[in-house]
Amino acid sequence: MSITIRVFDPADTEAVLALWLQAFPEYNDTSRPHRNPRLSIANKLGTQPELFFVAADRDGAIVGTAMAGYDGHRGWLYSLAVAHEARRLGIGTRLVRHAESALAAMGCLKLNLQVLSDKPEVIAFYDALGYRADAVVSLGKRLSVQEPAAVA
Ligand SMILES: CC(C)(COP(=O)(O)OP(=O)(O)OC[C@H]1O[C@@H](n2cnc3c(N)ncnc32)[C@H](O)[C@@H]1OP(=O)(O)O)[C@@H](O)C(=O)NCCC(=O)NCCS
Repeated sequence: MSITIRVFDPADTEAVLALWLQAFPEYNDTSRPHRNPRLSIANKLGTQPELFFVAADRDGAIVGTAMAGYDGHRGWLYSLAVAHEARRLGIGTRLVRHAESALAAMGCLKLNLQVLSDKPEVIAFYDALGYRADAVVSLGKRLSVQEPAAVA
């Protein structure tokens, strides 16, 4: 499949949401209402939007996404997704490599990411790309923030 990787455009919003709902079943989990993909897009458009990438096929259809960030110390990668019908064609690899290059160009020395522990196939994917588990415990805490208005 011939694809192009480019920066996300707001016009891609609905196609990206459809892809994420397909690729991330957890977005359909109503017990986790804090997962709001539309708000994730809105927030990313306000923070390093140049690190939000999509893979588009020859017809312009969105078949993959990767959202990266750099905080001046580490790079992070989120929302890597490839459409079911386009998997195992190397698109996920290309998206990760693209994000790695963009982060390296900013001076980022290490890229971190988290994978849900019940996704062994995703861990296998990252292992194939040279990623290894760090000897750390991943901690997190939700913060109360005023949510910006999501894009339409
Ligand atoms: C993970 C994901 C992005 C991989 O995308 P992809 O385009 O299919 O990956 P690639 O074609 O680049 O795969 C590269 C290599 O990774 C490994 N790999 C990919 N998918 C795999 C799977 N399901 N099981 C085992 N290994 C896998 C293989 O070694 C593969 O090489 P090969 O096809 O020559 O054997 C895709 O499966 C996906 O969107 N999953 C659902 C969303 C998700 O959970 N994202 C991760 C969030 S942290």
